[in-house]
Amino acid sequence: MNMPMQLLTERMRQSGIIRFIEYFASLFPDARLHLKDLVVEEIGPGRRMRIAGKEVVNFGSDSFLGLDQDERVKAAVRRGLDRWGTHNGASRAFSSVQSNLEAEEKLARWLGTEATLIFPSVTLANLGALPGLVGKQDLLIVDEQAHNSIQEGARIAKANGVQVVSFSHCDPKALLEAFDQVNKYRVAVVAIDGVYSMSGELPPLRELNDICLQRKAVLYVDDAHGTGVIGKQGRGTVLDALGDYSNTLVVGSLSKGFSCAGAFVGCTNEMKQLLKMRSNTFIFGGPVVPPYLDAICQVCDILMSSEFEQLLGRLHANLTHLRTGLSQLGLVVQGGITPILSVLVGNEEETLKSGSFLFDQGYYVQSVTFPAVPYHAGVLRIQVNANHTIEQIEGLIETIRKLSRSIALPRAIDQARAA
Ligand SMILES: Cc1ncc(COP(=O)(O)O)c(C=O)c1O
Repeated sequence: MNMPMQLLTERMRQSGIIRFIEYFASLFPDARLHLKDLVVEEIGPGRRMRIAGKEVVNFGSDSFLGLDQDERVKAAVRRGLDRWGTHNGASRAFSSVQSNLEAEEKLARWLGTEATLIFPSVTLANLGALPGLVGKQDLLIVDEQAHNSIQEGARIAKANGVQVVSFSHCDPKALLEAFDQVNKYRVAVVAIDGVYSMSGELPPLRELNDICLQRKAVLYVDDAHGTGVIGKQGRGTVLDALGDYSNTLVVGSLSKGFSCAGAFVGCTNEMKQLLKMRSNTFIFGGPVVPPYLDAICQVCDILMSSEFEQLLGRLHANLTHLRTGLSQLGLVVQGGITPILSVLVGNEEETLKSGSFLFDQGYYVQSVTFPAVPYHAGVLRIQVNANHTIEQIEGLIETIRKLSRSIALPRAIDQARAA
């Protein structure tokens, strides 16, 4: 008779996503390296890293401003380590180290909200805060393409008896229709991404917020990819689009542009106190480890200083250089609002082979295929950094030029004709 663990393992193997990944891996064993699970053996200097014994330039990191390698940020982590040790070993429902409050106050000053509440990650913020906001007589409406963690947070809310519906991606008309079709509710929350990280798309914040105001709803914006790199002083998408936070709860990332760890919810003091009592991931989980809190304060100082413009200037110069170079090759290039550019490849096998080709030539980019993007719409996802050198950017363009001679990448002109 099969043991329960064996039965469980076999049952998991039958799940759609595992069958899909294993089928793919068997079809393209050479490209397996680029599917998942890479091991980085060494990082630096600059944006270099070693994977499987090979030195490559890393175009696959969200540390867009290069602050992961900043000596002041590294020193802040060391200071925090000396001050607090490695971990304070308690849920914040019991106690928080002083650095938590310092970091939350500093984040609020930088963001322009009354308060912020730090969570260990954006995923945990969405899984905790989102279901915590709404109860049985309330309504939660989610953009159909919002990040997986918003969808998971919505599933928890639904299991708690909240009325949950979705609306067509970034479509204000569809949001209105969704409001028209639901049952009577007490108050509503509309949850969206501030930047859709696979396409680089920004939602029509103003239109969506106007509808929210008409329909007794608060707009909840997961701005993970906007934090630190979009808007004045890197405060993200919301303030520039809406002028204030009076009807929004904004969630930001402390691990992407910030290069530290964690996430925050920007809100009022009162909402902060309520979220502390209603967010299960805050209550029942551990905190961001203390050394990173000191580093978050350091990054806030950098973002609030005039140096931010220099960092952003370097990042945008690199982004523009790369986008121009790739467009001159005639390729289909998507994105560019955040420092992520996607070069369309299409076919899954060719997407993986393209990633392999670049890797062999010394450049790591993410080969993204279904289900992260639509079927047969595979892309090379390139994350640009303020501390990429111009030689590294030009080297990547030149290598993609070589790639386009061996694999027929879709051409922008053909796409334009077909449209
Ligand atoms: C919109 C959005 N939300 C959440 C996350 C996950 O963030 P974290 O790694 O902090 O859980 C991502 C990751 O890329 C994201 O793009």
